[in-house]
Amino acid sequence: MAVTINTLREYKEKGEAFSALTAYDATFARLMSEAGVDVILIGDSLGMVLQGNDSTLPVTMEQMVYHVECVAAGNQGSLIMADMPFMSYSTPEVAMENAAELMRAGAHMVKLEGTDWMSETIARLSERGIPVCAHLGLTPQFVNKLGGFKVQGRDEKHAELMIEHASELVAAGADVILLECVPAPLAARITQTVRAPVIGIGAGCDTDGQVLVMHDMLDATPGRKPRFVKNFLADSGSIRGAFEAYVKAVRGRSFPAEEHTFKA
Ligand code: KIV
Repeated sequence: MAVTINTLREYKEKGEAFSALTAYDATFARLMSEAGVDVILIGDSLGMVLQGNDSTLPVTMEQMVYHVECVAAGNQGSLIMADMPFMSYSTPEVAMENAAELMRAGAHMVKLEGTDWMSETIARLSERGIPVCAHLGLTPQFVNKLGGFKVQGRDEKHAELMIEHASELVAAGADVILLECVPAPLAARITQTVRAPVIGIGAGCDTDGQVLVMHDMLDATPGRKPRFVKNFLADSGSIRGAFEAYVKAVRGRSFPAEEHTFKA
């Protein structure tokens, strides 16, 4: 059975953790969906792991559309989430055009990075039939404003603000919230506060779902080892085995463990 937004809501209601991974082509997308990965994210992380850039900013809409088409061709029933690249949602009008293009390419949901300023855009997309994931916390498209790839929401003021933003974006129509690099207690509070499913990366084990960049969990990014990454290839013997081990660990909430978690 194909995974839909309703499947993710059911997981949240039942307290069952779901898994997500990034993929950028048909071969890996097929392996992932056969392994039971619920959500495949065509992340603009492709700007770093495929293109070798030091940020996600150079990624274009044309490139995103191409990779969404590739993933859609290999997908076997996972929910396909596509990142909207830098400046492709700078106004609600621009966002509508570009989100429609990603949906036509095969996405089931788009993902945007930002805070309360995205409310109008999210409302418009949602009203017109485009499911949205709102990405909060460490938002890589803002790396130059954030001053680096740093954990967000560490002090009470910023933590409260993130909870407010998550609630506001869900009220505007966001179907999923993604939290990147936030302390686990804050991620747990947001997960309890909003009715939408919450996916975490570097956000502890209490979010409704987990996501990792595929290249990181296959240990294919030497020199780039964020604390929240686990090498799932090491004990699995094959790429398919690594995906299966990841799905099992997420479902069993054995990943992320203490050592992958920011506590404050
Ligand atoms: O672009 C991406 O791969 C992402 C993940 C880090 C969540 O947004």
